[in-house]
Amino acid sequence: MPQIAPSILASDFTRLGEQVLACAEAGAELIHVDVMDGRFVPNISMGLVVEALRRMSPLPLDAHLMIVEPERYIADFAKAGAHYLTFHPEATPHAHRVLQQIKEQGVRAGMAVNPGTPLEYFVPLLGDLDLALLMTVNPGFGGQKFIEGSLERLRVLKQMRDQLNPECLLEVDGGINRHTAPQVVAHGADILVAGSAVFDGNTRENIALLRESYAFAS
Ligand code: DX5
Ligand code: ZN
Repeated sequence: MPQIAPSILASDFTRLGEQVLACAEAGAELIHVDVMDGRFVPNISMGLVVEALRRMSPLPLDAHLMIVEPERYIADFAKAGAHYLTFHPEATPHAHRVLQQIKEQGVRAGMAVNPGTPLEYFVPLLGDLDLALLMTVNPGFGGQKFIEGSLERLRVLKQMRDQLNPECLLEVDGGINRHTAPQVVAHGADILVAGSAVFDGNTRENIALLRESYAFAS
């Protein structure tokens, strides 16, 4: 069954702990933490908040690093307790080295590509990845519209994954809601990141409705 990873970017930061617990009680599998540096993406968010979250979250943390030169921070985020560390190859000249760094820290490694980045970036690295993240919006902000062409990219990425590393999980991020979730699940997504679709309104109800939406899609 596909997993749900609520993105706390859309949560109410004044009640962050409470909202993470609500996600856990509603049956979400991961907590997605969007780290933004104001350079790779225009927005700034989170940072080592991961450390505080780790102390209270019953769910593993899925840290999505939207930062330039991720190599400079891998050790810090590993120490902070991230379960998955996902970087962007567009943000570093040394994607292979970053991946090895993550693995050396004993953390599960993910790589994310923007909508305009060729999927071929995955070819040399897929064998070592635990997670392949397909951005379905341009990163930086929550609440954006799912980019239609993403479904075809997901179909191709799934073929690459099945061929090169069937163990690697496929994650989608951006514009995932009750309408797009069944489509991405039908195209092979294993982990659905959802921000506004989870936190706008009642968190528990939203997670239940999201799960229901794709119950018959896979
Ligand atoms: C976008 C982030 C996403 C974002 C998703 O840069 O990587 O994780 O929070 O938000 P929604 O689900 O609202 O599109
Ligand atoms: Zn994200």
